[in-house]
Amino acid sequence: MRLILIGPPGSGKGTQAKLLSQKFGLCHFGTGDILREAVRLSTPAGKQAQPYVSSGQLVPDDLVNEMVADRFRRDDRPENFVMDGYPRTLAQAASFDQVLRQQFLDLNCVVVLLVPDEEIVRRLSGRRFCPKCQATYHILFKPPKTAGICDECGSALVQREDDKEGTVRKRLQIYHQNNVDLLTQYHNQKLVREVDGVGPIEVVFAKIAEVCKMH
Ligand code: AP5
Repeated sequence: MRLILIGPPGSGKGTQAKLLSQKFGLCHFGTGDILREAVRLSTPAGKQAQPYVSSGQLVPDDLVNEMVADRFRRDDRPENFVMDGYPRTLAQAASFDQVLRQQFLDLNCVVVLLVPDEEIVRRLSGRRFCPKCQATYHILFKPPKTAGICDECGSALVQREDDKEGTVRKRLQIYHQNNVDLLTQYHNQKLVREVDGVGPIEVVFAKIAEVCKMH
């Protein structure tokens, strides 16, 4: 199964991609996670990406495209994957298309998670994440067993810098600006499946598995 998850910031792409990867053995490819790790390690790509990531703007297409293409050029390239947060622009979609064609891989499904903007603002203000193992929580909807501590590795949880309300609203605006053209392209390829992203995490997961015919 080769799948792209599209949705506004905070719509649950990361949460669902992790579940899909655990249940169906898909490689989870989250460009936001990879960029945040590069920023944390101060790699050359991380230094370039840092001002964009912290202010909620999109990192330049060339940088993200090269990061993805590089992963697919390696000997252990993923054959079955879930893309979380990539592609986000038409230029990224064109680049990804070319990468997949070079590897003789077809996309099976583009799942669009539908979540209203006000729900997004509510969700992101309560999100916490583990800087060590990247596990994601929500103080109300998915709390850790001990407040403020990661269930998986015991590290202290933190709030993402770009989850402040003003930055979230900017990220939403950027999402809506880019999304129309991106979705038109995937609609034309008859790959788009829309899923209501509001409701319990496991219910949303079941709907994704259903529309992609994964059992
Ligand atoms: P990225 O990390 O990809 O951020 P995003 O797309 O804005 O998405 P989020 O990670 O904020 O949310 P999500 O949809 O994964 O939701 P989650 O599962 O965490 O990108 C960050 C930045 O990196 C970008 O702004 C940009 O600068 C850069 N970047 C990344 N990719 C790029 C690209 N391709 N091109 C250019 N720049 C790029 O859930 C959110 C919260 O809600 C959590 O607390 C979760 O527990 C909770 N939750 C999840 N599902 C539910 C539910 N059903 N009900 C209630 N709560 C829920």
